[in-house]
Amino acid sequence: MNVSGSWQRAARGAMLLGADGALSTTIFTEMSALAAATGSINLGQGFPDEDGPDEVLDSARQAISDGINQYPPGRGMPVLREAIAAHQERFYGLRYDPDREVLVTAGATEALAATILALTQSGDEVLTFEPFYDSYGAIAALGGATHTTVALRWPDFQPDADELRAAVTDRTRLILINNPHNPTGAQFDAETLALIVELAQQHGALIVTDEVYEHLAFDRPHIPVATLPGAAERTITISSGGKTFSATGWKIGWITAAAELIDAILAVKQFLTFVNGAPFQPAIAVGLGLPDAFFATAAATLRDKRDLLMAGLREAGFAVARPSAGYFVIADAAPLGYADAAEFCRLLPGLIGVVGIPVSAFVLEEHRSEYSSLVRFAYCKRATVLDDAVDRLSRLRSP
Ligand SMILES: Cc1ncc(COP(=O)(O)O)c(C=O)c1O
Repeated sequence: MNVSGSWQRAARGAMLLGADGALSTTIFTEMSALAAATGSINLGQGFPDEDGPDEVLDSARQAISDGINQYPPGRGMPVLREAIAAHQERFYGLRYDPDREVLVTAGATEALAATILALTQSGDEVLTFEPFYDSYGAIAALGGATHTTVALRWPDFQPDADELRAAVTDRTRLILINNPHNPTGAQFDAETLALIVELAQQHGALIVTDEVYEHLAFDRPHIPVATLPGAAERTITISSGGKTFSATGWKIGWITAAAELIDAILAVKQFLTFVNGAPFQPAIAVGLGLPDAFFATAAATLRDKRDLLMAGLREAGFAVARPSAGYFVIADAAPLGYADAAEFCRLLPGLIGVVGIPVSAFVLEEHRSEYSSLVRFAYCKRATVLDDAVDRLSRLRSP
């Protein structure tokens, strides 16, 4: 059967289709299969291997026992919408009306999809920073938008202001930020965020910000772009409970934005999942209300894991870019004699039993050569697992 159209565009955008149009396996699938087949430590995928706080887990169990098992309201359960609004005010001083300016989604992934599909038309440009989280390109392509990028370069992965200015045009409908950033762990500073707001104002663009790692910042506080002067009314802020509460499988995400933007996004969201995760919604509400100490400890624990893996990678001979937030560290395999990280990642499980992902998986095909020797490793794993990984990595120097 010859299937064509938007699915193929999206698949090409997501790099799932080869040049011949055939379905190809993503590097993520390939590496996870390789990890399983070789019994390797999987530092490829970004999910924690420990459960989140008991209060949150207990609350979900209780909700199931209490019969909260049917469709929740389309915008999300009031208890969660109120907790999201209270969280935005508590941490950032941002005020949103829980009834009109907050929307609960099936993870940040659905929030991104509904936002891009609702707010772009065929031919509009969606500007992202590159490397980029893979769903951005796929959804932009599915909606018929043109995906444009601004490079984030080793080792600090901050955008060049002139390149950013040149990339935003009157065709730019959305400037999509991911702050803190996957895969680099970079955080945009206040000047960069201010420039983004200025350019969005100048060109009539909206800002979409994916802040799923907002509570996992180690060296300096997270700055939501919506807190900058003039930003709030044109910014759609997206986050999720997956990373903060180590519950990536629950897929409870949310959006805060002006009421008319939320309405437009809800119009699309209702036909994607309609609703999701009833018993997890009150549980994430409990999480968002946990004391400050929980959030500080979560970040500090992960910072120690970052330091552990960074030290191990350096010791093994990689050059390492220091991430200031998130789950991932980028290491350059070139000093070890490997110029092609994709090839290196395919060899690594067999060599030492560790899996990473080549950064080329997060960039447009035409830009792969700029990132060719870089590998992303996840450190959101138990310290014992990271110790073992570091031990194995040390064998790269003396196999
Ligand atoms: C930058 C970024 N955005 C969104 C997501 C997906 O979030 P969720 O699991 O809430 O859909 C991830 C997950 O890895 C991510 O890294």
